[in-house]
Amino acid sequence: MTKPLTRDDYVPNDVTVHRDPDRLRRVVRALRAAGRNIALVPTMGALHEGHRKLIREAHVMQNTVVVVSIFVNPTQFGPSEDFSRYPRTFESDVDTCRAERVGLVFAPSVEDMYRPGSTVTVSAGPLGEELEGASRPGHFAGVLTVVSKLFNIVQPTYAVFGEKDYQQLTLIHRMARDLDFPVDVVGVPTVREADGLALSSRNRYLSEDERAAATALSAALVAGAHVSGRGAEAVLKAASETLAAEPRVELDYLELRAPDLGPAPENGDARLLVAARVGTTRLIDNAAVLLGTGDE
Ligand code: PAF
Repeated sequence: MTKPLTRDDYVPNDVTVHRDPDRLRRVVRALRAAGRNIALVPTMGALHEGHRKLIREAHVMQNTVVVVSIFVNPTQFGPSEDFSRYPRTFESDVDTCRAERVGLVFAPSVEDMYRPGSTVTVSAGPLGEELEGASRPGHFAGVLTVVSKLFNIVQPTYAVFGEKDYQQLTLIHRMARDLDFPVDVVGVPTVREADGLALSSRNRYLSEDERAAATALSAALVAGAHVSGRGAEAVLKAASETLAAEPRVELDYLELRAPDLGPAPENGDARLLVAARVGTTRLIDNAAVLLGTGDE
């Protein structure tokens, strides 16, 4: 028999941690019935200032209870990737959520998210094979499958994601549109350190030396954006020269695309995306550029 909900399942002005998907589903259903909007911030934990910004953005929506999911999703990691060593900082993550006035933390176990025998997944389509997908086969199927499960369990009105993972954000927008999820997907600009390095949970893998080298990624984006008035070729040249000047950066890709990640236009809005390995750590970054509209 399912246990009835109690006052402990949702405590106004404090954070409540739920591990059981069915119970969380019932709590958010009750909150929605009471007229509250749910804003979901999906994370894999190891929360940093970038996540805090996502949570603050979630609070901007009217009459909202913010739900942060913390789940290191095994299906989005390849066999040689960092699933087992991915940083897990649950206690301090809950403290961060409390400080940011999060209402509910959803932290399921792998077994509760992926029940034995589950075989159906979400396909990311052709864009899922490009850019990040070319280096990380199956990654976006794993991301979209877990995000669709989170949408179904948490039933959010809004779901907030960082632009730092720009291809992920694009594919989640597309999934919500193509599969008719009744959710507003909200993208939030990347938070950076003072020297330009994009905040990422993986930055903590970097040694001091590697951390210094990693700033070449954001420097390359700035260099590219600086000459964007001269067109695509100039942008790619300036960005790749900046990367080449840092021997500790092993480039995976540097690409200019349209904002929806189709082919880059000759003029107008575009996105410059970079991925590289620094030591054993794979980093990504991206920036908006406006092509060919000035005399730079
Ligand atoms: O961006 C992330 O942290 C993850 O890919 C997400 C969206 C939480 C899915 O596991």
